[in-house]
Amino acid sequence: MKDRLGREIHYMRISVTDRCNLRCRYCMPDSPCFLPEAELLSYEELLRICACAVKLGINCFKITGGEPLVRPGLLPFLKALKSMEGVRQVTLTTNGLLLGNLLSGLCEIGIDGLNISLDTLDSQQYTLLTGGGTLEPVLQNLKAAVASPIPVKLNGVLLPETVTQILPLAALAEQMAIDVRFIEIMPVGYGKGIVPVPSSQALQMLQNVYPDLTPCAAKRGNGPAYYWESSRLKGKLGLIDAVSNRFCEQCNRVRLTCTGYLKPCLCFESGIDLKEFLAGGEQELLEKMRTAIWDKPISHCFSQPENMTETHMMSQIGG
Ligand code: 5AD
Ligand code: SF4
Repeated sequence: MKDRLGREIHYMRISVTDRCNLRCRYCMPDSPCFLPEAELLSYEELLRICACAVKLGINCFKITGGEPLVRPGLLPFLKALKSMEGVRQVTLTTNGLLLGNLLSGLCEIGIDGLNISLDTLDSQQYTLLTGGGTLEPVLQNLKAAVASPIPVKLNGVLLPETVTQILPLAALAEQMAIDVRFIEIMPVGYGKGIVPVPSSQALQMLQNVYPDLTPCAAKRGNGPAYYWESSRLKGKLGLIDAVSNRFCEQCNRVRLTCTGYLKPCLCFESGIDLKEFLAGGEQELLEKMRTAIWDKPISHCFSQPENMTETHMMSQIGG
């Protein structure tokens, strides 16, 4: 469906848990207070909301967390969503740690894409940045995922201390067919305390090393990334400049938190708690969703963080 500004909304990010097996500094405190499991929507409830979303014209779903793979029973849920009539794409964002065991199941289901979050290839820095994570299994799982039929993208958040990692991460796209994307840190949750690195700085560094870097003509993916290609790269390089370049006019998405809150914009707390309406009929649920989507805010206000009304952490919203 279109929102009141005429933007076609066809993409929903669904957080299935606020829990994570990492503690990335810009995302979570060391000792987070997670929601009791009873507060999460059940998979059955999530599927009911997805069925309504499909009726409203949403046909692409991205499953996020926290870390989605820590929630037990994820594969049958993904399978049910993937086989729902009207669903075009189901993709997953993950830190990659638990991917090893689940990869073959994801291939069987026919998952349409995996976004693996990785900000550094330096194992000591990885451990520091993620609050104790180990890099080696992530790299192994990343390689296995790239060798699988599932298209894989790597997402690295641009941080002052990982500027030195921009070129090593980009070089992964020399070795394998993977899109490597660099994301500006958004002032959400703990991201507020971090000095942003503009994507233009990353681009400059990449252009120095890959002088034939040219913007890709064709649109790739559902998101706001713009891509660059070079004859030396098997994959593309992507930049997501959520902060320095407001791309809200093209926004096509809404978010569903793991407790069932439908959030039309990352920046604002406004939205509708769908949990309250799950007991009622489908018509009521559809009506509430339609209203929330219709009223999607015009744009974010990351450049004036004092105007932001969103106070939750990224892991609670679904990054
Ligand atoms: N800004 C940008 N990206 C973020 N992520 C988490 N917090 C932020 C933030 N403040 C990213 C993670 C992961 C995805 C789920 O969201 O690194 O790639
Ligand atoms: Fe976990 Fe992702 Fe947050 Fe890191 S950024 S703590 S991997 S949810």
